Amino acid sequence: MSVVRVDLGARSYDVHVGLGLIDAAGAHVAPLLRRGRVLVVTETTVADLWLDRLRTGLGDVGAPALVLEPGEGTKSWEGLRRTVEWILDQRPERADVVLALGGGVIGDLAGAAAALVLRGLRFVQVPTSLLAQVDSSVGGKTGINTRHGKNLVGAFHQPSLVLCDTGALETLAPRDFRAGYGEVAKYGLLGDADFFAWLETNGSGLAADPALRAEAVRRSVRMKADIVARDEMEAGDRALLNLGHTFGHALEAATGYSDRLLHGEGVAVGCALAFDLSARLGLCSQEEPSRVRAHLDAMGLPRDLRDVPGELPGAGALVELMAQDKKVLDGRLRFVLARGIGEAFVTAEVPREAVEAVLDASR
Ligand code: GLY
Repeated sequence: MSVVRVDLGARSYDVHVGLGLIDAAGAHVAPLLRRGRVLVVTETTVADLWLDRLRTGLGDVGAPALVLEPGEGTKSWEGLRRTVEWILDQRPERADVVLALGGGVIGDLAGAAAALVLRGLRFVQVPTSLLAQVDSSVGGKTGINTRHGKNLVGAFHQPSLVLCDTGALETLAPRDFRAGYGEVAKYGLLGDADFFAWLETNGSGLAADPALRAEAVRRSVRMKADIVARDEMEAGDRALLNLGHTFGHALEAATGYSDRLLHGEGVAVGCALAFDLSARLGLCSQEEPSRVRAHLDAMGLPRDLRDVPGELPGAGALVELMAQDKKVLDGRLRFVLARGIGEAFVTAEVPREAVEAVLDASR
């Protein structure tokens, strides 16, 4: 097992990565508890697989659980209301800890509820999806979706502890594992060429090899922890984590946040397009997008608009969807582009015609 420290002064915390952490949750959570209460928020699919084991792992602390419906629809005002009211029904005290057991939806929602109740309860993330382990459980972004868009309501509220049990990844559907891998590849592409080369060699072995899987999660979490420690509130470097997301979010919106395109798949297409755009603007060589595509292809991920099933709006309409994203600053679209693999940077100096040309070439 390895431990990655997220260094945020008084709000620093550890991310544990390895096998068996759900079974051993009690020992890890115990130092946070003065009064023995853990309030678990989870969803039905994850609860069937892991809730009994988590409770056994927590030992005799007693752990009431709210079991919600799975799926993005739960990350809503209604889901937040239910979660907050359920926590209040438990008569919480400040010493209590909310524990999110599940993927990104549960982590974001339970974190948002924990931020609100009593103006902030501590919370622990026990992420069970690859996407949640390498991205959403670390860094303190919490929130819900509204009719105005995804994640537009929420708070920065850092967890007190994150337990990434890489054994939980064995129960994921292959497509969910692959989609989560989109975010893993993103880390190499944005800031660590050696990690990307390691993934090119080892990526196809991750699904079957627990040691490789744990190493990929650890290296991803290490990169995220370093970026969050430098820029907790996304005033600068943290925006690099949005590589592939400006394109990806527009495609997710265009496909109605449906099964047509999972978030990590949108990020994969978005990474390929960000490298296309970088090459088109003369920032990196033409070989770089080909290398990105070859790896995403080898991992069974979509790379282009033509890989997304069903109709998509035209390039102009997709750019309009990008403009509704929260990465807009002073009314200008910001992109994460790259001077090469592992060398990403943020810029607003991108002509709209270049973006539309990249989208058109990807159809
Ligand atoms: N998922 C991007 C971030 O945490 O900043």
